[in-house]
Amino acid sequence: MSDGIIKPFLVAPSILSADFSKLAEEIKSVEAAGADWLHVDVMDGHFVPNITIGAPVVRSLRPVTSKILDVHLMIESPEKYIADFISAGSDYITIHVEATKDVSGCLAQIREGGKRPGITLRPATPIEEIFPYLKYVDLVLIMTVNPGFGGQSFMRDQVQKISQVREELDRIKSEALIEVDGGINPETAIECRLADVLVAGNYVFKNDYKKAIRSLKAAKGVS
Ligand code: DX5
Ligand code: ZN
Repeated sequence: MSDGIIKPFLVAPSILSADFSKLAEEIKSVEAAGADWLHVDVMDGHFVPNITIGAPVVRSLRPVTSKILDVHLMIESPEKYIADFISAGSDYITIHVEATKDVSGCLAQIREGGKRPGITLRPATPIEEIFPYLKYVDLVLIMTVNPGFGGQSFMRDQVQKISQVREELDRIKSEALIEVDGGINPETAIECRLADVLVAGNYVFKNDYKKAIRSLKAAKGVS
């Protein structure tokens, strides 16, 4: 719910665009550059046409950082792996509404494991499909690219989902955060001003980390 005060965006660099040969160093660097959270993109080659990393990598990163590990599961049947991601030390665990027949069960499993559940959807999925689950989540992730790869262009037609979710969260009196993921840079960030958290992969890791993060945070107040 809005209190009328404009807070800067929280910025969650996606480690998908980091140099995997020195992940711990990369994490230290974005932390020093002002990152608020770290976004971890988990892909299984089934739900999306790409394979990235799994729970063992989250487990290795946990002692390296005290920042929030924001784990985005782009995997089929997440119920099979949620326990692994809980024990690996994730903070937020976000599942796709399209990925399982038991969305509520998965969200409950995350909550019961002491972690914060999140829900997300593919760009082609109507926003109303996540509405029945909003009461169970702490995070709603709006995808502004088709999940699968970093470095894609921002899908402007998805922006309206941010205000639709904001309205529905207000209606049910939920304090869940809204996060946007895909093609984020300072120009596209301005269009997401109703959101709370921005994921940025390419824009952070292909630029000066500190300047990039600072310009993303500041985009909230720009009109
Ligand atoms: C896409 C991932 C994103 C991606 C964002 O499937 O969910 O988190 O890494 O990368 P950029 O910011 O480069 O679009
Ligand atoms: Zn992501």
